[in-house]
Amino acid sequence: MARKRKSRAVAEDAKWSAKKQKQTQESSEESLPEGVHHYQTLEEVPWDLQKYWQQGYSIFSKYDEGIWMTDDAWYGVTHESVANTIAQHIADAAPSNKAIIIDAFCGAGGNTIAFALSGKWKRVYAIEKDAATLACAKHNAEIYGVADKITWFHGDCFELLGLVDTNPAATVTSLKAIASQYGVIFASPPWGGPGYRSSEVFDLESMEPYSFSFLYQSFKKITSEVVLYLPRTSDLRQISKFAKEDTKTQVVHYCTYGTSRALSAYFGNWKILKS
Ligand SMILES: C[S@@+](CC[C@H](N)C(=O)[O-])C[C@H]1O[C@@H](n2cnc3c(N)ncnc32)[C@H](O)[C@@H]1O
Repeated sequence: MARKRKSRAVAEDAKWSAKKQKQTQESSEESLPEGVHHYQTLEEVPWDLQKYWQQGYSIFSKYDEGIWMTDDAWYGVTHESVANTIAQHIADAAPSNKAIIIDAFCGAGGNTIAFALSGKWKRVYAIEKDAATLACAKHNAEIYGVADKITWFHGDCFELLGLVDTNPAATVTSLKAIASQYGVIFASPPWGGPGYRSSEVFDLESMEPYSFSFLYQSFKKITSEVVLYLPRTSDLRQISKFAKEDTKTQVVHYCTYGTSRALSAYFGNWKILKS
């Protein structure tokens, strides 16, 4: 009889803690900004994101500490090991007079956090035009303990840096001035959906919404040191067209599990990159 009462109590406890966990989950979801999630179980994740969510720790090793994502951010976020390797390459190869890095499309913060963690930069400037995604990046940088090293900008990077005529009032003059004098630019733009996967050689001029030449020609108005993070199948002939005479444009593939995820093209006066 006593044993029966005990097992009923254990069952009640389990029921309560399941309920409690659900309540905690619900209230933490409630307090998140609109469009932001921290999915904790597969059932919560929209079906088309499940394969990305299952790679969670490879994307952010601190995922369980409460990483925030928008549903779109899952498609474009740079995996932590790749982001750290890129950050190390850029830190090692940057000209010595460069003290600022601008992450022009910061997304949920994958690269921005790695740049801040590298310890190389006086300041990391991170730009993102989607408010919910920017909220994720800020929150994620807090989790990694580097938020105080980053200055955040909400808006269109081309407008904020004064690279287009569409909205001259949006230019942040101080950002433009500092970036021009001391900055290198890293840009991981949207690639226009998964279409690049089906082409053996990806035509970089078909990239949407910003073509490769638009990106390169725009950013080089600010600094000659520009790194573009591009699909792994990118047409190298298009990249080589912009190599200045007597300088080499270095292209590095970044892999996980032996497979290239993407490549970075290093334009400008970088030291020779070592693996
Ligand atoms: C491929 S994702 C960047 C991912 C990021 N590297 C990361 O690890 O999280 C591209 C991001 O650029 C943003 N974006 C697109 N156009 C932009 C623009 N003109 N200015 C600033 N951000 C922009 C998108 O909202 C998206 O979050």
